Order: sequence, then structure tokens, then C-alpha cells
Amino acid sequence: MKITVIGAGYVGLVTAACFAELGNQVLCVKKTEKNLEDLRKGISPIYEPGLNEILQNNLKKDRIKFTTEIGKAVNFSQVIFVCVGTPQNDDGEADLSQIEEVAREIARNIEGYKLIIEKSTVPVHTHQWIKKTIKRYSPDEVDFEVASNPEFLREGSAVEDFMNPDRIVVGVKSDHARSTFKKLYSPLTDKGHELIMVSPASAELIKHASNSFLAMKISYINMIAELCEKVGVDIKSVAEGIGSDKRIGKKFLEAGIGYGGSCFPKDLKAFIKIAEDSGVDFKLLRDTDEINSNTRIKFLEKIDDILWINKDKKIAVWGLAFKPNTDDTRDAPSLEIVDRLHQKGAQLNLFDPKAMGNFKLSFPEDDLIHYHDNKYDALEDSDALIILTEWEEFIDADLSRMKNLMKLPIIIDGRNIYEPRNMRGFEYYGIGRNNSDVSEILK
Ligand code: UGA
Repeated sequence: MKITVIGAGYVGLVTAACFAELGNQVLCVKKTEKNLEDLRKGISPIYEPGLNEILQNNLKKDRIKFTTEIGKAVNFSQVIFVCVGTPQNDDGEADLSQIEEVAREIARNIEGYKLIIEKSTVPVHTHQWIKKTIKRYSPDEVDFEVASNPEFLREGSAVEDFMNPDRIVVGVKSDHARSTFKKLYSPLTDKGHELIMVSPASAELIKHASNSFLAMKISYINMIAELCEKVGVDIKSVAEGIGSDKRIGKKFLEAGIGYGGSCFPKDLKAFIKIAEDSGVDFKLLRDTDEINSNTRIKFLEKIDDILWINKDKKIAVWGLAFKPNTDDTRDAPSLEIVDRLHQKGAQLNLFDPKAMGNFKLSFPEDDLIHYHDNKYDALEDSDALIILTEWEEFIDADLSRMKNLMKLPIIIDGRNIYEPRNMRGFEYYGIGRNNSDVSEILK
């Protein structure tokens, strides 16, 4: 099939590359020339495992092209995916100006029937606004349908998630659109992946409700972790016990310094606002958001409790990305944690396998902040190590080499990547684990 993808950010690029990989002819629209030449060589501006490989594979096979000309792209195919950004306004609401701009561009250029598919995360009923905008701005009577097909890709495993989705959710009205989606996703449904067809409004709501539920799960386990610390119980075993109930599930029960990234914090606030505008007070989600913010603050308090004075302490920081396998630092807990330690005058030696470039945009090197080429260099002569992202290379690190490099073998682990029982010789602190005071009481 021929497919147009408008937007070459995270979602747009992965969607375009993966549909090409499934054998379609894809034209992807980028708003500006920036990085266009790199993209045409198969070099993605974002780090995402496997993305460059499939870009290069499909460029070679002539199945994917990039353009800045939206008019040309609108009439390249009957199927148009809208994948532009929906950032957050000051009041938490989603800013839909890019969506509206795309709708107007489609209206100006549309020739013949189009299936216009929102993939961006949008508030419920946005499809109706898109429809109204296209009708208002197109000079002639036009034939089109607006559908919703939210994405559930996770950064760091987006290609894998696209190719092996838990489910594909599609919001459609007509039989024609239904059969287009069936054809479009047949390479995945043939492998047994489920295609769920609902109304466009339901599909829009499913996306916000899914992200909010996952965020809620994380805040829930972080509260349980806080309780575990107080009563001397290990969060890992509790999470295992809870998650083994299939109705609850083991995923997204990793306690730590909370969720970040470009999706959960923004989507949760947008969903709370949607509810509020509809007369529903979603207190549960407001609490989820507040617990998440407090998780970062409590981690900083933990650092204070352990190190006492931060000023002039040499602190190694491993992990800056909001999660592993990405270079993304948007709303990463590291931003707030490094900022506070910096304000307190700590000497910070930072390392992240992929995200240092992005982090430097917020925290350039100065007399307190230093970046290192590898994790061990960052550790040299340190008073403590703080772990903020669970990269595989930190999990696999050589503990005795670490100990030899550090001035004091203190590890404060915000992602629970090590087992306390394997940390003999270290003063090791996790989240919801090994509270030595309580263990003493229980002896
Ligand atoms: C999230 C959703 O998982 C995707 O389904 C969705 O498509 C995407 O948002 C989106 O809306 O675009 P993403 O933000 O890439 O994906 O990453 P997640 O793996 O969901 O992690 C989000 C945050 O939660 C990270 O900071 C991670 O460290 C944290 N997290 C995750 C925990 O603290 N504990 C967990 O158990 C799981």
C-alpha cells in the first residue's frame, strides 16, 4: 500500500520506517530541512535500537522517502497518518495547534478520497475537530474519513513494539476504513497480533487511559516501596508476589525514582484536564502525579540522609536518560536530581551511554559538572555513586573494579539494579530495600 506519514519525530519516524519494513511505499513529511539529509542516508536524529537498520534497508529498497512538501505528500496516497507533536500547555492541556495546522494543510491540498488517521496522542473527540477543520478549509466538497490509531510504542523498544504489539487499537466508522486497516495491519494480524476495532472517540480515550493506568501502577509500587522501607520488607519480593497474580501482572511494578519521559507526565496532566473539563475530578490521577513528583524529592532526601553534607562531595552519577536504550532526557528524574545536587555544591561526575549530548543542553560542563567517556572514569575517587537509569552496562558492571576506584564504596541506587545480598563491601541503598535500622529492630 501507499502511505503518507506526516511528522518525523519519534512516532512519525518509527511508524514510517516500520510500515516500509512491512512492504509498503511510504512518504514521510518533515516540517523543516533539519536532519533531512541524514534521514535520506538512513541516519535517525534520535537514538532508537534497530531504527537506523530498517531505515537503511528500506531506503535501499526504495520503499521510504522523505519530503518537506506536505501538499505533494497529501496526494501521494489515500492513507495519511498524522504523527505531529501534541506538547503540553501551561495548564496541562494538550496543545493541538500542530494537529490543526496539518488539518488545514490537508484541506488545502486534498484531491480524492483520504483516510486520515491520528496517531498522535490527542484528547477524546479531537477527530471531530480534524473533520470540522478539513470541511471548513477545503475549497470544494471533499471525501474523507478521520480515524484514530493510537500508538503504544515505548522509547528504547519502539521498533520491536511496532512489530510485536500486544494489541492494535483502531477507531473507525465506515466499513471501507475498517477493511483498509485490516489490509494495512495484515502482516501483524497474520502473526496473531490482535486488532481491536472501536469508535474513534474510544480509541482516543484508550490511549490516555492506558498511559495513565501504567503511570498509576508505578506510583502505586513506589508508595508500597516507601512502606517497605519503613517496615523492613523488600519491595522486590513484594512486587513479585503482587505481580504473579495474572490480573495484576508483573510489568510496571519496578519501584524507583518514578516515571519521566515525554509521555507519562504530559499525558497524565492532559487526561486530568480532559476529565476536569468534562466535570470529572480525577483525584486518583492527581495523586499519581503528586506521588511521582515526591518520589524524586524523597530520593534527594535519601541522598542527604546518607551523605549528610553534599557540598564538595565527589558524586558519580550513572544514567541520565529517563529510561534505558534511549538518548531522551525529557522530564527525566535526572534533571531535577542533578540540579539540586549542583545547587548544593556537589562535584558531579556524570556518565550515560547515550544521553549525555541531550543532558548537556540543560547542564553544560562547569566547575562542578563533568562528563566522562565511560562509567569507570566517572567513579574515580568518588564519595558515592548515584544510579538514575538501569542501563544494562551498569547492571553488568564489575563490582570489585568499582570498589577499587571509589574513595568510599557508597551506592545509592534509584533503580534497584543490584541485589543487596551481592553488595558485600559496599554501603548499598536501594528503593524499598535493605533498611538497616529496621533489620536491626527485627533481629
Ligand atoms: C510510554 C508507554 O509505555 C507506551 O505504551 C506509549 O506508547 C508511550 O508512553 C507514548 O505515549 O508515546 P515510554 O514513555 O517510552 O512509553 O516509556 P515506558 O517504558 O512506559 O517508561 C516510562 C517511565 O516509567 C520511565 O521513566 C521508566 O523509568 C518508568 N518506569 C517504568 C518505572 O519507573 N517503573 C516501571 O516499572 C516501569
